Amino acid sequence: AAVLAAALLSSSAMAADMTVGFSQIGSESGWRAAETSVTLQEAEERGIDLKFADAQQKQENQIRAIRSFIAQGVDAILLAPVVATGWDQVLEEAQEAEIPVVLLDRMVDSADDLYLTAVGSDLVHEGRVAGEWLVETVGDKECNVVELEGTTGSSPAIDRKNGFAEAIAGHDNIKIVRAQTGDFTRTKGKEVMESFLKAEGGGQDICALYAHNDDMAVGAIQAIKEAGLKPGEDILVVSIDAVPDIFQAMAAGEANATVELTPNMAGPAFDALEKFKADGTMPPKFIQTESKLYTQADDPMAVYEEKKNLGY
Ligand code: AHR
Repeated sequence: AAVLAAALLSSSAMAADMTVGFSQIGSESGWRAAETSVTLQEAEERGIDLKFADAQQKQENQIRAIRSFIAQGVDAILLAPVVATGWDQVLEEAQEAEIPVVLLDRMVDSADDLYLTAVGSDLVHEGRVAGEWLVETVGDKECNVVELEGTTGSSPAIDRKNGFAEAIAGHDNIKIVRAQTGDFTRTKGKEVMESFLKAEGGGQDICALYAHNDDMAVGAIQAIKEAGLKPGEDILVVSIDAVPDIFQAMAAGEANATVELTPNMAGPAFDALEKFKADGTMPPKFIQTESKLYTQADDPMAVYEEKKNLGY
């Protein structure tokens, strides 16, 4: 017991000594807000001094925040990169300063020796799971799909699109008739869905909506209702994240399926950093979180209650 206590003491002393800069994208979605609150909570529980910077969706703000973390001499940096490209230089600056960078939830196109590890889900797989659900649900029926894409140039927008396209390939009855970015926000999801509905003769010929996140789906559901159609019935709705609000929509029969993305990226990230700082243990380059499909058959209100306590 004494040895265990000493080990715990030294590990918590080590954690308390750690200062970590966190460059967050912003607060575009319910999922993003939950990721922020889980990260703050994880840091507090571990005695980590977390310096938080909200980039308000701008890469230049993220680059500025990273440079400021480097100047302050932080022990590590967490980066949720808004887009995939344009990071080489600032990541090289962090490397020169010997500050490990951990990517959260989105990937970058830079060489993987420029960051310590990345924590996230298999984003292509998420899109594939959504597409496979639709293929199975519609069977041989003709199905025109509209797609609400995430932020242009972000890895989830690119990968979720590709995964979905992969799943429906070869099913000629399923066609994507319109695709546009809704920037991962509820407001834009609604606006773009309104324009899809107008462009598609009021929506009668739209069979399904695929949204790259739940917030855009929730906005779109509102637009579908205002157009006099029934979301979940007239237009099937499948999206990604598994935020509490989508389970309420599922319970009301207005959304059909979602693929879960955990907002707890910080737990595995801090575990990796603590080990690395303690004895140099190198984490794997990618720490994958799980993706699970939920449908209306999964007691949506029970899941809603569970989810509300998980940082949402
Ligand atoms: O990078 C993860 C995505 O970013 C989430 O699916 C979305 O809600 C968020 O804004």
